[in-house]
Amino acid sequence: MAYRALYRTWRPQSFTDVVGQQHIVKTLKNALQQERLTHAYLFTGPRGTGKTSIAKILAKAVNCQNGSGEPCNQCHTCISIQEGHSMDVIEIDAASNRGIDEMRELRDKVRYAPAENRYRAYIIDEVHMLTEPAFNALLKTLEEPPGHTLFILATTEPQKIPVTILSRCQRFDFHRLTNQEIVERLREIATDGDIDVTESVLHYIAKYADGGLRDALSLFDQCLAYAGKIITEKDVLDILGKSSKDQYSSLTSMVLEGKIVDALIVLDKTLESGKDVHQFLTGWLSYWREILLVKLGASHLVIDDILKEQASSLSKDELISVIDLLSDIGKNIKWSTEPRLILEIAVIKLVNLVGKEMLDVQVAEKKPSKAPVKKEEDKEKTAIIEQIKKDWKNIVSLVGKKSVKAQALLVEAVPVDGRPGTLTLLFNHSFHKESFEGSQGKNRLLLEQIISQKYGEDIKIICILKGEKVAEAKEDPLVDSAKELFGAEVVQVKDKNPFDK
Ligand SMILES: Nc1ncnc2c1ncn2[C@@H]1O[C@H](COP(=O)(O)OP(=O)(O)O)[C@@H](O)[C@H]1O
Ligand SMILES: [Mg+2]
Ligand SMILES: [Zn+2]
Repeated sequence: MAYRALYRTWRPQSFTDVVGQQHIVKTLKNALQQERLTHAYLFTGPRGTGKTSIAKILAKAVNCQNGSGEPCNQCHTCISIQEGHSMDVIEIDAASNRGIDEMRELRDKVRYAPAENRYRAYIIDEVHMLTEPAFNALLKTLEEPPGHTLFILATTEPQKIPVTILSRCQRFDFHRLTNQEIVERLREIATDGDIDVTESVLHYIAKYADGGLRDALSLFDQCLAYAGKIITEKDVLDILGKSSKDQYSSLTSMVLEGKIVDALIVLDKTLESGKDVHQFLTGWLSYWREILLVKLGASHLVIDDILKEQASSLSKDELISVIDLLSDIGKNIKWSTEPRLILEIAVIKLVNLVGKEMLDVQVAEKKPSKAPVKKEEDKEKTAIIEQIKKDWKNIVSLVGKKSVKAQALLVEAVPVDGRPGTLTLLFNHSFHKESFEGSQGKNRLLLEQIISQKYGEDIKIICILKGEKVAEAKEDPLVDSAKELFGAEVVQVKDKNPFDK
């Protein structure tokens, strides 16, 4: 028999089966018992917290032949709804049926009485995805619903739903589940399936899931597939970091060496290969944690040389700052619509925080007396950067011969100082910067190619946004150039984490 994912096997079938969300369960059960249901419910909240599950339980409960307040799950009605055969429970995924036609069709069908039950339930998932005309058509139906219909609208983004719709629904806000609630359900599943697992593993999974039970079950599933029925903490770490230990290690080295561009490229490659951003971040975080353990002499893993080197190049406090920063970001990233952007910014911040070499070179440029002797090669490269800055307009038109769009974006950008071998482009608007960096870095590669052809030297391009924090030192040459170009008052050296409000 084909394997069924845990989150499907463990879909709650009755209200007592639901983990958490007691404020909702209680209200619905009461309404059922006292026959005070309304015609339209709106379920909002993060994904994987029970919206669809409760919608189905409710659809069963209103039609169950035996129950009052709970579906019996044994009568013909309960079973046909559970198996998805019932004509009277209609599930619509608004993400793929966004248009007016579907909603019109729904409006026409709503008039007919249910085939064999008291109610016909419409469960409209991701309802915020509907187009405006579709919302209007839905609204018409909600305004005068026939007595036998029950609407359950579910969404992760209630702010995108028109007020006119909101005002016609009874709204329930689903909460993220607590770690304790998740751990308890996982323990139940482990006992049921004779799975040997420590408490720490369960807590690890719960922490990763961050309130979403579906994510917890998926990760648990991955662990089972990887480790079999005995799961250790190391297995979980392996899964979260699997196939990427090397990627984490090299990404970390690049950050430490101040190689923003290389770091962003590695990140890009990893994420292009379909890796989940949140999962990647969690894995990277455990990698940093491992460095800290090595630093403290508390690691019981086999320590490789790179890890040792990374640990010795950082102070304990620096490591703690890094871990703090990444875990802060982790809290935002999971629910963000732009997780990737957040991660990229995190990389830049980390370089600012612990990217030693970059800082040293910049300081060295300012204070030659204290600086280590610079290599001839570096001088040459610095001279080329100066030349590029002078030739900039010319270069931009060369780019224009290959791509007008890239040219247009570059007109907005200003070349400023960088490390030897890199050219930093300062952008005025994040939109321009992102567009320039987008399309898998094609624009950047084009520019690098043109520069390499013209000057016979490989120069890397770094894009930054005006106002982004670029280095610790007040007398940072990058900031100075920016001030020169934009005027002191418009260049802000931001110190604050943009994610804490
Ligand atoms: N509150 C919950 N109680 C029990 N199981 C849950 C709960 N929330 C999510 N799950 C698990 O996750 C799966 C997906 O949940 P679902 O109800 O589809 O979430 P949503 O619709 O909020 O995204 C369920 O099949 C179940 O295994
Ligand atoms: Mg759902
Ligand atoms: Zn029943």
